[in-house]
Amino acid sequence: PLVSMRQLLDHAAEHGYGVPAFNVNNMEQVKAIMEAAAETDSPVILQASAGARKYAGEPFLRHLILAAAEAYPHIPVCMHQDHGTSPAVNIRAIQSAFSSVMMDGSLLEDGKTPSDWDYNVAVTRKVVDLAHACGVSVEGELGCLGSLETGMAGEEDGVGAEGKLDHSKLLTDPDEAAEFVKLTKVDALAIAIGTSHGAYKFTRPPTGDVLAISRIKEIHARIPNTHLVMHGSSSVPQDWLKIINENGGDLGETYGVPVAEIVEGIKHGVRKVNIDTDLRMAATGSIRKYMAENPKKFDPRDYLKPAMAGMKGICKARYEAFGTAGNA
Ligand code: G3H
Ligand code: 13P
Ligand code: NA
Ligand code: ZN
Repeated sequence: PLVSMRQLLDHAAEHGYGVPAFNVNNMEQVKAIMEAAAETDSPVILQASAGARKYAGEPFLRHLILAAAEAYPHIPVCMHQDHGTSPAVNIRAIQSAFSSVMMDGSLLEDGKTPSDWDYNVAVTRKVVDLAHACGVSVEGELGCLGSLETGMAGEEDGVGAEGKLDHSKLLTDPDEAAEFVKLTKVDALAIAIGTSHGAYKFTRPPTGDVLAISRIKEIHARIPNTHLVMHGSSSVPQDWLKIINENGGDLGETYGVPVAEIVEGIKHGVRKVNIDTDLRMAATGSIRKYMAENPKKFDPRDYLKPAMAGMKGICKARYEAFGTAGNA
């Protein structure tokens, strides 16, 4: 069945685990995630970005997620709008049966320009009022997502501020977080704690802490009843990076957020962990390798099968590491 994010994350908070929220654009991703969830008995958050909507189209996207819920009646599935950049986008998502939305008012509607406080509060409060009337939960965002090492928001396209960010905005302020939640009544809050979107988070292998764990603790202490969300949580698996680069790819050297640090964040209130890049890398690595080894094959099912297996492996590992397993 479809459930709201609030239902899933309240259970996660009560039992001290985190739930990965995987981005989906196509059937293979949805199937990989659901198979992993079924094998580990995990609740599921499937989230769709504006880019996903542009790629698949709203009806295909919605029916793919509804198909997941139908095929796995014993697994709770939350259908979440990722980075809704305006009240209109979120209202359309609610209309088309999403059980959870994100009003990302940290950026203006263009998804690039950092907004001011009043704008963020106003649009987020508006979405919360409407969503809650429909039984739909809301995630807001406060702060500017960006790597503490590079000062960059990450992705070239997709959602994220452009250019080098003001360092003071790279960490969400705990007092502001408390005030924001009080004014908007969001169910969950995405915070800036040193992560960024995409595959290029860090240029060097992580040695010390890449996440501002102490900041997570401070924010959690101020808003213990608001579920914290960590965007940009891909770990950029080095084994998949190697497979990609050895089979014609050229992603260079790059690093993500170590799983152990995410697990540390989960101990201090992080409940929703957004992952997209890691599944993209597993799919690409699997397909590149298969193509290189099987030059005579041309049935897409032949190479999409290993792609699904690669993605499923990442999903199972995250469900197990985050403590999601066994909680469906
Ligand atoms: O927030 C970014 C997600 O990774 C979605 O990316 O906008 O390319 O679909 P996308
Ligand atoms: P990654 O690019 O680290 O996978 O983050 C995805 C994300 O935050 C989607 O909202
Ligand atoms: Na989101
Ligand atoms: Zn995100």
